[in-house]
Amino acid sequence: MEIEISVRRSGKAVVFLAGALGACLLLQPIARSQSATPAGHGASAAKAAAARPWMNKSLTPERRAELLIKAMTLDEKITMMHGAGPCLEVWTPKCPMPIKGYVGYVPPITRLGIPHLTLADGRAGVGNNAKDVTLLPAPIAAASSWDPSLLNEFGHVLGKEQWEKGTNVTLSPTIDVVRVPEWGRTFESYGEDPYFNGRMAVAEIKGIQAEGSIADANMYVTMQQESDRFHEDSVVDERTLQEIYLPPYAAAVREGHVGTFMCAYVKTNGVYSCENAHLLHDLLRKQMKFDGWVMSDWGATHSTVDSANNGLDQEMPDSKFFGEALKKAVEDGEVSKAVIDEHVRHILVPMFRQGLFDRAQPGNWDSKVRTAAHAAFSREVAEEGTVLLKNAASLLPLKGDESVAVLGAAGSTKPKAEGGGSSGVVAPYVISPLDGIGKRSKGKVTSADGSDLEKAASLAREAQVAVVFARTEETEGGDRPDLNLPDNQDALIEAVAAANKNTIVVLDTGGPVLMPWVNQVAGVIQAWYSGQEDGNAIAAILYGDVNPSAKLPLTFPRGATAIPTASKEQWPGVDGKSHYTEKLEVGYRWYDATNNEPLFPFGFGLSYTTFRVSHLEVSPAKVALRASTDPAKVKVTVRVTNTGKRAGAEVVQVYVAHPAADGEPPHQLRGFARVALKPGETKPVTIMLDARSFATFDTQAEQWQVSEGNFEILAGTSSRDLPLQASVAVEHKTTSK
Ligand code: BGC
Repeated sequence: MEIEISVRRSGKAVVFLAGALGACLLLQPIARSQSATPAGHGASAAKAAAARPWMNKSLTPERRAELLIKAMTLDEKITMMHGAGPCLEVWTPKCPMPIKGYVGYVPPITRLGIPHLTLADGRAGVGNNAKDVTLLPAPIAAASSWDPSLLNEFGHVLGKEQWEKGTNVTLSPTIDVVRVPEWGRTFESYGEDPYFNGRMAVAEIKGIQAEGSIADANMYVTMQQESDRFHEDSVVDERTLQEIYLPPYAAAVREGHVGTFMCAYVKTNGVYSCENAHLLHDLLRKQMKFDGWVMSDWGATHSTVDSANNGLDQEMPDSKFFGEALKKAVEDGEVSKAVIDEHVRHILVPMFRQGLFDRAQPGNWDSKVRTAAHAAFSREVAEEGTVLLKNAASLLPLKGDESVAVLGAAGSTKPKAEGGGSSGVVAPYVISPLDGIGKRSKGKVTSADGSDLEKAASLAREAQVAVVFARTEETEGGDRPDLNLPDNQDALIEAVAAANKNTIVVLDTGGPVLMPWVNQVAGVIQAWYSGQEDGNAIAAILYGDVNPSAKLPLTFPRGATAIPTASKEQWPGVDGKSHYTEKLEVGYRWYDATNNEPLFPFGFGLSYTTFRVSHLEVSPAKVALRASTDPAKVKVTVRVTNTGKRAGAEVVQVYVAHPAADGEPPHQLRGFARVALKPGETKPVTIMLDARSFATFDTQAEQWQVSEGNFEILAGTSSRDLPLQASVAVEHKTTSK
């Protein structure tokens, strides 16, 4: 039987081959021999169906879970509530499990037909040392496209490779809001805006899950730094938590229907995330209505009774707290059987919903899953995610026949295509910028790794154009010490810029860096960590085969202290506590509130053509918002015109400014749309704003509220370029959870 699952960005349909006779199918080879009932009709099939009523696909996932729980023993339930240990070859050469590769593993319960769970990392491709996979650009690069359909396809490609590797739980995406620009995992995330991160999260999660595996929203929550990450306590007020840090998660649940959450290493207001009743019970279950399961980050479980009673469903990667100790806690009456059933239900419902009981999974950890189409997509993401920050005297695009000096190790000997940690992917190859430029240029191309400044300067002097590639090392487990480029790279750029006025700097970094040389160079390109097609993508941008259209999803500051989290109390914290004293003023919100001019603002990015945004209309002029979760209510329209000579795409951004009494930052992103335009072409753009776009969280009432008053609607092409303004009067103050 073929089931059409979804229509992809490219317009191609994705199909799964569903197994016949779901009632008696077990999916893993190891399990099949022990439990498969001969396919066929008649008495034996009917008997099998009666024995396993939860295999009836016409029942709801909730009903199926309920029937199965009734048939499970306490030991079986507890088996599902923890991992059986990591099974990475690198970590445990003698893997105890029959399955190798996965970073998390829950064995099958063959007696009941419960499939195993195979969990694998990878935010930019299948991780955990898997071979023959595609290295995509870092998620921050994909997000810079401001194109949810690209993120959806990103999810499809990642999810398909995971599924074909035998993974049925994909530990992606990372959706935390970037609070600290030095955060070592910035490259894994989508950026600094809660609404924006929510849009990207929903798109990617839907893509991953459409390919078969369950996605995982991580790391819940206040995981905004790596310094002291196993113990750090994020001290954050409830309003800030609600308005800044929860929205991506709420969107992942409400619209992404994500199957799992990973609770973070850190504490929130004194309590570890994985035993935090407020985070897990009040916010995740009651407020967000999440019905999937919460697994701990690897080693983030700290207790048995508190974790089980306060909302952790599954310990990863092993059974220190949720194995024998949990059984004893149940026998001693410290954790009730009803609580155990609830946890198991949370695990089973998404497994049923996702079809894990009903569908055969192709391939295994050794399968070759990369394809030419995925390589082409990796390149497309890199091209769509590369942000042109400066282009003095329109030096770019290059004509093609000029001589070019490619300088810096990241340009040739040490291309920087990915971030580190559990995001690491074994790239099948990486095209270096030197390779990419070499293939594309018709002029003379020279290169030097930049370790010898004089040599680099002399090559720059001899060439018509110098392109310096600079890199940062970013990884989980550690924040960057500061925002400076490491390894003397500023000096390299300055030496090259002094030798050649046509110097372009390409930044292969996962987050913002300071640019003391910005006025000395002709061009700056933010290429992030751009995956295996690094060199091809940057050549396409430099030579104008692709017109850049990406925009920054986070602010680039002017100086070391010109950031929202400049004090030690804020980051990395004092006495183990990081104080979120900037409150709502995260990212551009702080720059606007404090009148601090960023170097490059949130939402900013140049193109080889020019655009005009005009004719802002907001309707109705007066609106009655009955609840903060009302569907779209306010219609915002503008026109966008390509006023230049090349085809290109612009991202229209709509921000809302609250009445002063609301005490909100000056303006906040509430909608955006990417529009492709031919030269001279004009297109209308409509963006709908829902009630939540106007809401604030009232901590007294513990509810989202919409105030009465005039809200300003601002439209333009970055958080600092909002030439169009209109207002809408909100008439009824109403409340809703
Ligand atoms: C990371 C997670 C990852 C896990 C398993 C942890 O250190 O924080 O994101 O999924 O390891 O590799």
